[in-house]
Amino acid sequence: MNVIEASGLCKRYGKDSTMVEALKNVSFGISQGEFVAIVGSSGSGKSTLLHLLGGLDRPSSGTVRIDGEDLYALKEQERAVFRRRKIGFIFQSYNLIPVLNVEENIQLPLLLDHRQPDKAYINDLIETLGLSERRKHLPSELSGGQQQRVAIGRALAYRPAIVLADEPTGNLDSANGREVLELLKLAVRQYHQTVVVISHDMNVAAEADRVLRLQDGRLISDSRGGNGA
Ligand SMILES: Nc1ncnc2c1ncn2[C@@H]1O[C@H](COP(=O)(O)OP(=O)(O)OP(=O)(O)O)[C@@H](O)[C@H]1O
Ligand SMILES: [Mg+2]
Repeated sequence: MNVIEASGLCKRYGKDSTMVEALKNVSFGISQGEFVAIVGSSGSGKSTLLHLLGGLDRPSSGTVRIDGEDLYALKEQERAVFRRRKIGFIFQSYNLIPVLNVEENIQLPLLLDHRQPDKAYINDLIETLGLSERRKHLPSELSGGQQQRVAIGRALAYRPAIVLADEPTGNLDSANGREVLELLKLAVRQYHQTVVVISHDMNVAAEADRVLRLQDGRLISDSRGGNGA
């Protein structure tokens, strides 16, 4: 079974003369453990698609199933809980909480759910991300690459089945970007996750198992082995 199933997704913003069709009848399935890149020029609908896959927005028509669950058939509140437990998000801007330290930022999704963090797993994760020496530091005391690693840690805190990342290396120099990408891949391999990542970075596309290419809101190619970049 596909862990992500998008069928006939359409998304329109605005109406009348300012109406934009950001996604036009996009369908595909992604199986567990795949590392998928979404590419396409600016404005082609990549972020819109990722937000719909993650339950952050609502399609104009079409459905998204995550583990068989019809995301937009759920009530708002149910969807928020489902999302927090199943899906980890990483954005280009790290969205860390400035007054929380590294460890607290990573555990935030669990704390929001009043869950007791699995100490061994969180430690392991902090180690994998190379943040052991920085656990008590605040975001303002970290480099960009380190902040992005904290954001990755937070996305993985719940061991979500799915990780969605929107240009995770977009604000980093190429060395840091590469490192973040490697860590993301490593974490995913280690915890058997499915990753969908938007990137302008050709390295990301080249290393993905599969590349989905959007153009003007349509899915124009779906290729394996990173050759579609
Ligand atoms: N909230 C919104 N209201 C109106 N139009 C929007 C909104 N969000 C996106 N759009 C439009 O939808 C289209 C797709 O936007 P989207 O953000 O998905 O593109 P993208 O592929 O992620 O681009 P980029 O690479 O620049 O991030 C664009 O034409 C954009 O102007
Ligand atoms: Mg975008």
